[in-house]
Amino acid sequence: MTRKTSKTKSHRLTTSDDLEVSAYLEIAKELQGEQSSSELESISKAKRETIVILDFGSQYSRLIARRIRECRVYCELIPFDTPWQKIANLKPKGFVLSGGPASVYDPGAPLAPIEIYGTGLPIMGICYGMQVITHQLGGKVTPGTKREYGHAVLHTGEDSYGLFSGLPASITVWMSHGDQIAALPQDFKPLAYTENSPTAVVSDGKKIFGLQFHPEVVHTPQGKAIIQNFLYNICGCHGKWTPSNFIQETVASIKNQVKGGKVICALSGGVDSAVAATLVHQAIGNQLTCIFVNNGLLRREEAERALNTFRNNLKMNVIYVDATDRFLVRLKGIIDPEQKRIRIGEEFIKVFEDEAVKLGKVDFLVQGTLYPDVIESTTPENKASSRIKTHHNVGGIPATMSLTLIEPLRYLFKDEVREVGLSLGLPEEMIWRQPFPGPGLAIRIIGEVTPERLEILRSSDWIVMSEIKKANLYRELWQSFAILTDVKSVGVMGDFRTYSYLVAVRAVTSHDAMTADWARLPYDLLARISNRIVNEVSGVNRVVYDITSKPPSTIEWE
Ligand code: XMP
Repeated sequence: MTRKTSKTKSHRLTTSDDLEVSAYLEIAKELQGEQSSSELESISKAKRETIVILDFGSQYSRLIARRIRECRVYCELIPFDTPWQKIANLKPKGFVLSGGPASVYDPGAPLAPIEIYGTGLPIMGICYGMQVITHQLGGKVTPGTKREYGHAVLHTGEDSYGLFSGLPASITVWMSHGDQIAALPQDFKPLAYTENSPTAVVSDGKKIFGLQFHPEVVHTPQGKAIIQNFLYNICGCHGKWTPSNFIQETVASIKNQVKGGKVICALSGGVDSAVAATLVHQAIGNQLTCIFVNNGLLRREEAERALNTFRNNLKMNVIYVDATDRFLVRLKGIIDPEQKRIRIGEEFIKVFEDEAVKLGKVDFLVQGTLYPDVIESTTPENKASSRIKTHHNVGGIPATMSLTLIEPLRYLFKDEVREVGLSLGLPEEMIWRQPFPGPGLAIRIIGEVTPERLEILRSSDWIVMSEIKKANLYRELWQSFAILTDVKSVGVMGDFRTYSYLVAVRAVTSHDAMTADWARLPYDLLARISNRIVNEVSGVNRVVYDITSKPPSTIEWE
């Protein structure tokens, strides 16, 4: 399936900007039949205050997890049909049942494991989650006479058992539901109402709460306070999920897991592998060897800066391989974007293998997998590796290397990774780096990748980045970069006619790269970028700005 004809969602996900590196390695590991180690997880989890969110498929489920983490409480988002024993092993302090598209009276509607009601632990059901509680505890849910969608004013009563502590008697909330509660379970009573929902919040007066509205969305301005009240006042959590606690816990677990073993990690210059490697380095020092493959497709000064950080500032043991020539040979004459990706992926694994085998017996491989990738991968077809596996027919790490995975960021969201990275003392420049694709500049050069064309793109890209940074817009933009097209056009410079390349500038805003909007950069900034590129980069005489959003375009041009 080529990109242009693909109607499915993008195979390239974005939570981790090192996804490409980790996916290549994961493929290699899968081909070798390796398993991820759960030892690390079980050690550190035993001590955590954990909230379990049962996911019934709401588009907002992840937001619930984000909000809970923002309250400094650890949580996991797991499918509603996760076996009870697995849930119990997480030693939850409470449960949240998410919203979802189903109706509880549908045949085979998803329900919560019945065991949760026998635990005596606090439960908060949101929207569909509230209907699940009602239905499973003997109440009645019926289709509402009209759907309630959008803002509503919630009037709370006097007694909220701590759920509405510190909040005014009336607050704005966000509703999105069709079904409604016709009869409450025994011992339940309404705690709050809206104009259309007499039972907008219900409770058993002990530990079970149902909320008809969505506290996790920004349209419920006091939603986070409600969630925090549930966590602190009802579940008794203490908000101990902080970067420094995470670092302490994780470092201790890694030490315990690795013992005297030898560990390798592929660095990409991206924040995820950097934070993962730094954590592991804090735990086991020089038992960790990092391998940094320069594929010759990086931006200007990128490899040097990253190396400087790892080697000189963090004193890590880094093997630096300048494999530029190997990659450029593989890319010679190649213009098809997917072919470029395939060849870069294959070569990466080969270079990595070549270096790794020189180290002799290695026991562990560090990867910068993040939580959204873990959530994505609950269905096999969504596995990070499957997403690019179809496109990369890569080999496996040699059988002599029996590697166990260490994924210290496996339960972190990107913003948490950044916080941890800053606490670990990584430079802001690395922590706030915009995502950069694994195949690098090769997919920002339309047509053949040659040293000359790479240099043109690097110089143009440097100007775009410098100007965007100078204008203080770098962090606001999801990505901003230059593309070298294969179009040549006529220009005039002084008394001479020129016939040179067209460079495009792309700057987008986005939350997750699934959708993106072109950034409304100030005209003056665009003018400076354009002027500087045509004046300073030889071989370019025209600059255009890409004003398409995604969809229908993609962020990258290839
Ligand atoms: P598109 O171009 O599909 O890009 O809108 C979405 C996000 O993914 C990044 N991207 C890649 N990342 N390998 C990667 O590791 C790739 O082949 C790749 N292609 C695109 C892109 O930079 C954007 O953040």
